[in-house]
Amino acid sequence: MPPNQTGAPPRTLPGMRDLLPDETPTWARLERLARLASLQRGFARIETPVLEPTELFTRGVGEATDIVAKEMFTFTDRGKRSVTLRPEATASVVRAYFQGGLNQGPQPARLWYQGPMFRSERPQAGRYRQFFQYGVEAIGDASPWLDVEIIELAAEWLKLCGVTGVSLQLNSLGDAQCRPAYREALREHFRPHLAEMCDDDRRRFEQNPLRLLDCKKPTCTPFHAGAPSPMDYLCDECKEHHATVEGGLKALGIEYQANPRLVRGLDYYTRTAFEFWHVDLEGAQNALGGGGRYDGLAETLGFAATPAVGFAMGNDRVVLALQRAGATAPLPRLAVHVIPTVAEAAPTAATIARELRAQGWSVVLDAGSRSLKAKMRAAQKMAAGAVVIIGEDELKSGLVQLRDMAAAEQREVAPEALPQAVDRILEATAPAEGGEG
Ligand code: HAM
Repeated sequence: MPPNQTGAPPRTLPGMRDLLPDETPTWARLERLARLASLQRGFARIETPVLEPTELFTRGVGEATDIVAKEMFTFTDRGKRSVTLRPEATASVVRAYFQGGLNQGPQPARLWYQGPMFRSERPQAGRYRQFFQYGVEAIGDASPWLDVEIIELAAEWLKLCGVTGVSLQLNSLGDAQCRPAYREALREHFRPHLAEMCDDDRRRFEQNPLRLLDCKKPTCTPFHAGAPSPMDYLCDECKEHHATVEGGLKALGIEYQANPRLVRGLDYYTRTAFEFWHVDLEGAQNALGGGGRYDGLAETLGFAATPAVGFAMGNDRVVLALQRAGATAPLPRLAVHVIPTVAEAAPTAATIARELRAQGWSVVLDAGSRSLKAKMRAAQKMAAGAVVIIGEDELKSGLVQLRDMAAAEQREVAPEALPQAVDRILEATAPAEGGEG
């Protein structure tokens, strides 16, 4: 027997999950608000492929990062190319900016996206192998005010979604001019402890000492104390850039915490780096999102040097935070259930359902073989405002039963009078909320 036919029914792969109907209204709400907040600030939607040449990420995100070294879903396709399920979208958006000629249009190009990303991490609450990001990238402008605009957008989106308990962490990682000195200072600090630190850290020490500050292992964290701060090594241009970002955030009343230990998990950042942390989410999964400036990425990929800044928010974690706070979106409300109680009543019921939908109501036709009692229970559960019942008696009399669920009242109505009668019931009871899914 082939290995996938062991007899047990198939299940999702580790770290991959279904989003079921009780969750999707909250997801739909996040997506709608992402579209709204982005469009309000002149960001246009971009979609890039889920599958990309592996090289895009090895060059863009960095060979030494955990993402590239350990977490990518990479395989050889039928054309013998090495391809990878995107672990993030920034490198793709930069590629698309050049490939699609957006570099010839008005600058900066303001772009937003949302969709699934893939990282083969150890699954746990808030960490999945397929997860969803809402991201924005502003490409083609070096102004620190663009950094402010991007951070403001992320903060505003979280607020619109109803997330509370968020803290914005801000740092500057310097640029190609001043970072080498900071890197060296970090090496000097960690060198005496190297023998006691983990294997990953020994690799980071060589390849990217900034990432040493991101190690969460209890064996390594004690050595972070007293590590040099990037602030002490910024060149004048980076210092000025950072001061303008800080001043801009203050002018907009956006609170932040200066965090010289904040390094991001991707190698492309220069200057501004930020994360939004949530107070209630578990340690390693507490970042609701993050981003920063990446002025060197285009060049690393082989394009003309082009400054850019962006962020990506993790929708899975935002939904988790909302669930824990009991602040999820309500289930969509179905206005009317039409229930034939005998098979012969189905055609009449289907016609009535169609007419009521044309009227603008959402209508479920419950023509299954279950009992009337079971169908009424379902209508109740799905919060129907009105139920239309058609059985043998109704077929004979030519009238239908119309039940007002909130008032628990039922009466006979002529089919022609149904639209108005349903309107009266629903206008009295229908709450405006809900309806996303
Ligand atoms: P990132 O920090 O790797 O940045 O990911 C952004 C967010 O995606 C994280 O803060 C987290 O909320 C979510 N996330 C990451 N991995 C997982 C996972 N395994 N499960 C659930 N959620 C996850 C980037 O991806 C950059 N491209 C952001 C950026 C855009 N920088 C500039 N522009």
